[in-house]
Order: sequence, then structure tokens, then C-alpha cells
Amino acid sequence: MKFLGLGLALPALNSCDSLIEHFSYNKNLEVSPGLEFNSLLGTFKSLEASSLDELVLPEGYSYDIIRSYGDVILRSKPESESEKSAENGVGQRRLEGSENAVIGVPEQLQDLKFGYNNDYIGFIPLSSDEALLAVNHEFLDPLDIPVEVEQRKAVGVSILKIKKDSHGLWKFDEDPESQREFNRRITANTPCAVSGAVAELYPEMTGTLANCSGAITPWNTVLTCEENYYLFDEVYKWKSFDARQYGWIVEINPLKPDSKPIKHTALGRMAHENCALVRSNDDRMVVYMGDDKERQFIYKFVSKNPVTMPKNFKNLDLEPHLSPFSEGDLYVAKLDKDLKFTELNSGKGKWLKLSLDNPILKSKFKSQAELLIETRLAAKYLAATPMDRPESLSVSPKDGSILAALTYSPAENNNFGSLFRIIEDNPHSESMTFHYENLIIGGKASGFACPDNIYFDKNSNLWLATDIDGAKLNKAPYDFQGNNSLFVIPSEGTHAGKALRFASAPSGAEFCGICFSEDYKTLFLSVQHPGEGGLQSRWPYGTNVAKSSLVAIYQELEWW
Ligand code: FEO
Ligand code: CA
Ligand code: CA
Ligand code: CA
Repeated sequence: MKFLGLGLALPALNSCDSLIEHFSYNKNLEVSPGLEFNSLLGTFKSLEASSLDELVLPEGYSYDIIRSYGDVILRSKPESESEKSAENGVGQRRLEGSENAVIGVPEQLQDLKFGYNNDYIGFIPLSSDEALLAVNHEFLDPLDIPVEVEQRKAVGVSILKIKKDSHGLWKFDEDPESQREFNRRITANTPCAVSGAVAELYPEMTGTLANCSGAITPWNTVLTCEENYYLFDEVYKWKSFDARQYGWIVEINPLKPDSKPIKHTALGRMAHENCALVRSNDDRMVVYMGDDKERQFIYKFVSKNPVTMPKNFKNLDLEPHLSPFSEGDLYVAKLDKDLKFTELNSGKGKWLKLSLDNPILKSKFKSQAELLIETRLAAKYLAATPMDRPESLSVSPKDGSILAALTYSPAENNNFGSLFRIIEDNPHSESMTFHYENLIIGGKASGFACPDNIYFDKNSNLWLATDIDGAKLNKAPYDFQGNNSLFVIPSEGTHAGKALRFASAPSGAEFCGICFSEDYKTLFLSVQHPGEGGLQSRWPYGTNVAKSSLVAIYQELEWW
């Protein structure tokens, strides 16, 4: 089995018993602060719970702000220069959505800005000291941005260049010339290509929004996941909103700034939280996905075609038909029993194919396009197993198992959520059956509640960020946790299975977008929605205006 960039040979896992034995998470957890752990980022002592309006880090660690909401990511050209480039057709991508230009100011003269509520962060190396970050913007507060024209520009994805300073710390690249090479905004106005069956009905779709989490592909493109698109219709009341154009996974090529994003409809339409990728042993791409809504499902996609990348490839030409995500089979998970996800449990499951080959689905849908648009409904017709809000999934490099964060579900009396594990019985691309474990239950004993973003580092230690609603923070039954936090759960050693707190978020914020630089010396993190739930936050600038921001966290240098 191959894993992204790792090429690890994995142990063969056959029976459920050997699987559970193999896994070293400790089910009898007791969490206390002050435990020392040697993470890839560095050694740290786990923090106590905090209710401070600060980004709290262990001793010896600091952070820098890379960008906050509203910061410029692409400085406009001086007027004389931009007239010239407009004549030459240069700067075309800055004219996208020109119907939304600020009145009286040509679009090519407007700075491009970092969007609202930053979430997923993807790291794309350019060299040892230059990289691109692809950053999602999840949703917005209409009190801050009341007008649709401006709302449309504040969502989507930001692509921005960062570079190391003379001390080796990553900073936003302030050079306007350098910014013009790759920096870009993909917004609710950007035209998108469409792949898969739905392209018959929609050859093109308009814009991307509700961009929650995502993934970087082995060929250095970004998959961005459209999640709560309903907000734009039901809450923000956008004019003529066509919901069928959203709820997809969208591939963006940050290395080709003039390329069109592609909506890959074969991966289904839902409230896509993230996608966890595996390049299987036959080189086909397998994608595991959660649908973050109560009583929704976990899905798996297997590409029809293998990925073929030439030696020393940079990245694939992003044509809809060339991406392995343009064609393949979509499955939904069904377990052998209905579970209470508030309890430890294990059992067997199978993947049910969502296609018109199934007589039940054939009787319900006219075409595969209609089925994909109504993915949730198709899964329900096959009696897939509803889960307590599947948010992020991540694949363990150690054993290839897939971990899902089931965040919480008031309707099921599940306050704290759990970590749910899937172990395929065969190679990822072929396996139609699996074993599962509801592995770690959130709550006071495990020390965390409402797991949301999870990420296995290359040592298979799990980084886990929580998302307790702002309005519920520091109140029973969530008070044990303090503010939302980032934990590390070691996979081996004395502290295996324990949630060790690495960072505590400012009031009302959640951490998301857990992303390491290639050398693991820097952790990029989104600090999203400080001040949520009516809380007062003055983070990060000590003013009355709290701002979601992207930060770089690292061990302090010796000379400090
Ligand atoms: Fe975008 Fe489910 O969090
Ligand atoms: Ca989330
Ligand atoms: Ca949130
Ligand atoms: Ca959440």
C-alpha cells in the first residue's frame, strides 16, 4: 500500500482482534496537564485548560500572524501599469466577477484581500524557502459584511505566497512583483469547470463558497470542500441562489494561476467537511469523506483511472478529464448495527455503491447526475448508517486505518463526540468491507469535547482541534475543556491515547486547518471566529474588532 509521498509498506491486518491489538490507543484515559511529549514540532509540556482571550502556547513556542481577514494578498498595480496590462490581456484573472467591482474603481485597480473566517490551509512548496498557502474561507458574519456584492468576494479560497525570512521563519511575501506570480482569490464569482455526470446538466458552475476543509493531492493541487452552502441561501438570502451548484469538492491548481477550478461531481454533493486521500496499491486514488450534518454518512470514492505522474513532475495539467477525480465509484458506509456513538463499540461494515446499477436507486433516479446531486437521499434509500456529524477524516500512515471525528449531536444526546475508526479489510481501492471501532469518546475523562479537525502527522500522532460552540464554552457540561484547543494524541509511548493540550484558542475561536511545513518546524493554523457566540474577543490586535487570522507557530529561536 502506498501513502501520499510516504511509500510505506504496511502490516497486513486481517481479523478484528488483531486490528484492535495492533492499535495502541489507551481506552482508560486520564488527562493531566504538564505531561511532556516530543512532537515533530518540538518537545512541549501539555497545557492546562484556559479561558483567556489569548492564543496560549506551551513555554518556548511563539506565533506570528501571516494574514488576518481583510489584509491585502495582492497589491493592485499602479494605474498606468494596469492600463497597459489590461490592453495586453494580462491580469485577466483579476477581472473575474467584474460585475462586482467597487463602483467607480476598475477591478484591476483593486487590491485582493484575504477572505473571512479562514479554515483549511494547504502548503505547496516552491523551494526550500518559498511556498504557497491555499486557504479556505468558510462563511461570514452578515453584520460585518451586509452587502451581497462584498460577501461574494469575502468567501472562497485565497492563494498566497510565503517565504522564509533571514531567521528561517515563514512570513507573507510582501513584494508586489512576487505576489503577482501566484497570489489569487477564488470567490463566489469565479467560473468553475465541472467534471463527472453532472457536467451533462451543468457544463459550468459559478463560484465556490462554504469552503471548509480539504486536502493537497500528490500532484500539488488543492481539493476544497464546499460545506454549509445552505447558509448563503437561507441566512444571507443571496439573490437567485442555485443550491445544486454547491456542496461539491473543487480542485484548484495554485501553481497555474489562470487555471479554472473544477467541481468534481463524481465525489457527490453534501456538506463536505474534508477529504482524506490515499493513493492505493494500484495507483488509484481513494477519497474518504464526511458529511457534517446530524444523521448523515461517511463516504468513499475510488477513481476509475490510476494516477500516472511522470518522474520529477510538477503538477498535472488541470483539465477536468485528466484528474483521477473526474470518474470513479462512490460508496457509502453501512455498519452491522445501529450504534450509540457515546459508547465504545466495534463491529463490521460494508461499502454500498451509489449507482444506477442498484435496482433501488434505478427506481428512484432518472440518471447518475440526478443521483449525485441528491447524494444524501441516495444513501438514505440504501439504508446507510447515520452518524453523529462526521467532520474531518485522516488516514494513519502507520496502519492505513481511517479516523473520523464525529463532532457531537444534540439530537442523539451526544454532547462530546467521539473518534471513530475504519479499518479496511483489503487494499483501499478494492475493499468493499471493513471493521470499525468507536475508539475514543469525548468528555471529561478524555479531556476534549467536540472533535472537528483531525490530522495524522508522519509519525501517526493525531493532532485534534475541537469546536465547541462559542455560546457553550466554559459552561457546563463543557467547562472542563476551557476554550477550544488543539491537542496531540500520541500513537505510541507512555502517553499513547491521551489528549495532550498544545494550544488554547482566544475567546469564541476554534482552531482549524492544521498544516505543517515540509520540515515540521512550523505549524500553520487558522484561528477562526474569535468572539463567536456573543463572547467578547480583542484578539489578535487588542482592538474591539476581533479577526480570524492565519498564524505560524514554531519553537522560539535560541537568541530570543
Ligand atoms: Fe466547516 Fe463542519 O465545519
Ligand atoms: Ca469543521
Ligand atoms: Ca466553527
Ligand atoms: Ca464544527
